[in-house]
Amino acid sequence: MAIKHYLQFSDLTLAEYEYLIERASIIKKKFKNFETYHPLLDRTLVMVFEKNSTRTRLSFEAGMHQLGGTAVYLNTRDSQLGRGEPIEDAAQVMSRMSDIIMIRTFGQEIIERFAANSRVPVINGLTDEHHPCQVFADVFTYIEHRGSIKGKTVTWIGDANNMLYSWLQAAEVFGFHVNVSTPKGYDIDYNWVSKDHSHFTLFDDPSDACEGADLVTTDVWTSMGWEEENEIRKKAFAGWNVDAAKMARAKPDALFMHCLPAHRGEEVEAEVIDGPQSVVWDEAENRLHVQKALLEYFVKGRVA
Ligand code: CP
Ligand code: NVA
Repeated sequence: MAIKHYLQFSDLTLAEYEYLIERASIIKKKFKNFETYHPLLDRTLVMVFEKNSTRTRLSFEAGMHQLGGTAVYLNTRDSQLGRGEPIEDAAQVMSRMSDIIMIRTFGQEIIERFAANSRVPVINGLTDEHHPCQVFADVFTYIEHRGSIKGKTVTWIGDANNMLYSWLQAAEVFGFHVNVSTPKGYDIDYNWVSKDHSHFTLFDDPSDACEGADLVTTDVWTSMGWEEENEIRKKAFAGWNVDAAKMARAKPDALFMHCLPAHRGEEVEAEVIDGPQSVVWDEAENRLHVQKALLEYFVKGRVA
């Protein structure tokens, strides 16, 4: 039987997400109640990082430990990956010594080649094109605060990056709409979007994109890997920030999200990210809980 991987948001069905949301809520409660829960006793997660991380490393490592297992951290700098060992060979070896693997890397084709050579499930911890674990945590956070996300409007302001592509896939799975506003020259790459464009609308003006939104979200203007463009991007993205005036165009109870790390004074103003509509710390915490549900599901299958 083919091994199931989580390489992009669309790899799981709505029914699977509904099950995982239930599991994440149960697992979160156990954690808050100091209840020991070790379904992955003696199991090993390998975490491969080719880019920096705080939240992803911490949430996967702490999460695996809390589920009774162990997490091994590898990065490009001090593993053989940095010395040119083929990704296919690395996948063969790592997957013979572990039960599940998480990778943060550059192009999506790298994680796909890795997964094709892995004997165990592979989870995407961020690629240039996708960040499914983060968007799953964000959808979970929205549901915790406001109930069902079906039929709601999510506004995306800023770069057409990995977070946006995962949001667009989530919109198809969960049945919500995304208003997208990106500066000229930084628009959507349709290679990373499904053929059905009915779940999003493009706006030239980022303020107009916020009109009536239930959730406004953004991300850094320069993602990891594009650092050389930082100064050019700062000019091109001026105006594509989330400030109080834009939030005022959204619904009065609209939430603000940012996957973090954030740059106050660039893509978001302090008045918003540190204001009452912001749920950024809940998003970060929920990485832990949804990923524990994913780890349980990908190692053991359905347990309830
Ligand atoms: N949001 C997120 O993935 O954060 P890190 O880069 O710190 O892992
Ligand atoms: N779009 C950002 C997300 C960081 C968590 C990046 O890829 O750098």
